[in-house]
Amino acid sequence: MKGIVLAGGSGTRLYPATKAIVKQLLPIYDKPMIYYPLSVLMLADIREILIISTAKDLPAFKRLFGDGKKLGMRISYAQQNAPMGLAEAFIIGESFIGADSVCLVLGDNLFYGQNFTEILKKAILKLDGATVFGYPVKNPQDFGVCVFDNNGNVTSIEEKPKNPKSNYAVPGLYFYDNDVVEIAKQIEPSARGELEITEVNNEYIKRKKLHVQILGRGMAWFDTGSPSALQSAGAFVEMIQCRQGNYISCIEEIAWRRGFITDKQLRMLGTELKNSEYGQYILNLTGEKT
Ligand code: DAU
Repeated sequence: MKGIVLAGGSGTRLYPATKAIVKQLLPIYDKPMIYYPLSVLMLADIREILIISTAKDLPAFKRLFGDGKKLGMRISYAQQNAPMGLAEAFIIGESFIGADSVCLVLGDNLFYGQNFTEILKKAILKLDGATVFGYPVKNPQDFGVCVFDNNGNVTSIEEKPKNPKSNYAVPGLYFYDNDVVEIAKQIEPSARGELEITEVNNEYIKRKKLHVQILGRGMAWFDTGSPSALQSAGAFVEMIQCRQGNYISCIEEIAWRRGFITDKQLRMLGTELKNSEYGQYILNLTGEKT
């Protein structure tokens, strides 16, 4: 399975914070926002990743990750000329996806919780069509929202409905078989002029090939699209890290624990960052016996 991180858009909802810097590189507590969605793909054992962003912002992502080799991954880059919608990722990424299945994660989504790695692995192992998630929120009108029948089956997904029919939002993490490329090419732009991911999901529902996995209340999901959501996500990360001493979405740690890189490589990565607490955390890991 291949992985795509969509990290473009104009970030206007965060102006002026995003006038000079792309939103997905703003820090959430101690690390760039994109570390969080990238770590989701790594936890799912996906090592071939495409980062899609704007021409203006791609150089910054390249400075951050290069070709991904240092993390034991293959990271490539592609340009989105205008924010034409999330589903355009599969058209831009067509040759990268090739004949594979693909996981799309939005560059501004953060997930954290027990068993999350298991949930991801199951989604990949059992993929038959598409798998998306449902997560209860107080403001469903800001998201794609699940519509359920009396048996609890999802009959459609509505994008930012004024009167949501449930409080289950669909987070920005989607698993698809290879049909997604053809489906993305067939859908029409919505009233707001975007190729909506919700349209793609509704096509999978029509084909009886969409599986919606409900995420329990023990999971944390943040979409960091507003100043207040950004602040809440940062406070959450700070609280967990300070309380437990375990870091959330330390991509070097995940690469090492997954066996993408050796002890020696991890030490080198820690040394590069040794002046920060983050770097010290990595260096401390290398002393571990596990
Ligand atoms: O976060 C989950 C939600 O993401 C879903 O529940 C919705 O169904 C889905 O449409 C999307 O809604 P948003 O309103 O959050 O989408 P937004 O336009 O903010 O885009 C999400 C991220 O993707 C954002 O960081 C910018 C980036 N983006 C967006 C578009 C439209 C791109 O890189 N390219 C694009 O063309």
